[in-house]
Amino acid sequence: MSLPELAQQVANEFARKYGRQPRWIVAAPGRVNIIGEHTDYNDGFVLPMAIERYTVLAADRPASGGAEVSWHSTHVQETAKFSTATPVTKGAPKWSNYVRGVFAGFQALGVQIGGLDVLMTSTVPLGGGLSSSAALEVSTATLLEVVTGHKLDPVKKALLAQKSEHDFAGVPCGIMDQYISALGQKDHLLLLDCRSHQFELVPFTDPAVSVLITNTNVKHELSGGEYAERRHQCEEAAKILGLPSLRTATAAQLEQAKGKMSDVVYRRARHVIGEIERTEHAAAGIRNSNWPTVGQLMYASHFSLRDDYEVSCAELDAVVDIAQKIGPAGGVIGCRMTGGGFGGCTVALVRSDKVDAISKEIATEYKKQTGIEATMFVSRPAVGATVIKG
Ligand code: GLA
Repeated sequence: MSLPELAQQVANEFARKYGRQPRWIVAAPGRVNIIGEHTDYNDGFVLPMAIERYTVLAADRPASGGAEVSWHSTHVQETAKFSTATPVTKGAPKWSNYVRGVFAGFQALGVQIGGLDVLMTSTVPLGGGLSSSAALEVSTATLLEVVTGHKLDPVKKALLAQKSEHDFAGVPCGIMDQYISALGQKDHLLLLDCRSHQFELVPFTDPAVSVLITNTNVKHELSGGEYAERRHQCEEAAKILGLPSLRTATAAQLEQAKGKMSDVVYRRARHVIGEIERTEHAAAGIRNSNWPTVGQLMYASHFSLRDDYEVSCAELDAVVDIAQKIGPAGGVIGCRMTGGGFGGCTVALVRSDKVDAISKEIATEYKKQTGIEATMFVSRPAVGATVIKG
């Protein structure tokens, strides 16, 4: 469904639920990361794009005024209620914490929010590793900007959303997801430098090449502790190397210090150092349409995430293996897991004229190997958070 169609649907549902037209409609997209995984919290590079899947919010002030917020999710058919008369805190239902954290962030800036009636819908698969949580946080921040008139610098907005994820969802994530959801650009990947928070645009407009996303439909959950553990291991490696982060570490430095760290910490650092380099090379490869090199870098990224970083799973490995076997002859340029890992999605670059055949082959083989139905779709790079009505 296109974004205008989705917005119309949300407006209709708002009218059905609240008995009047919404005054504001905003949207923020999910994302897929082409390469640069688990590098963002190491001050490294990432290469994500926003996808044509959105969280859309329709809202108005409550008919009777006041400071109550009523936030209805069409997905779970549940309404979260809280007040902005006092500082917003964590609460039930669980999903509302992504929203509550952003409200708390605006309150911390001294912004008066007031009451709201909101209807929310999303086409970003939930728990699929495509940043449904960042889409919710960034769409909420975008809504609060239009409602309060307090416009944030987009990078500050991404940082506010990231803080909300840290404090209210308990995931010590990096900046990638919130950043791309806030700042995504149509027809471009963003080569984001997570140390300076600056980005370079990498055009992705060749109609002959498509981004194919495969959801393993194995739920990915990052609050289980493995993510935080990886982050600590990287910090430990940087400390042993005497560096503020792994951003400037070299493979040679790491080899020299190998005896001073555990094997696990060594392998985590080896992934990050290699991945930062691969990301810069892949961005250059995409600029030059050097697809064989880009493909090799994607597979190398996956194997490093699987073996050294240990964040893949059997289902993600199965999809990558199937894609690699189809290979360039069948139209597959490269494939890897995308996002935090432990389930979720793979991303593949494929020849556009082969999308149907490749999708069919992956779905059939994946079902045969795992017994699970995969869900697949293609997306061009989409625009970041937008105000549709307001
Ligand atoms: C999750 C986090 C991101 C990033 C990726 C891994 O999506 O939210 O900040 O660390 O995992 O690259």
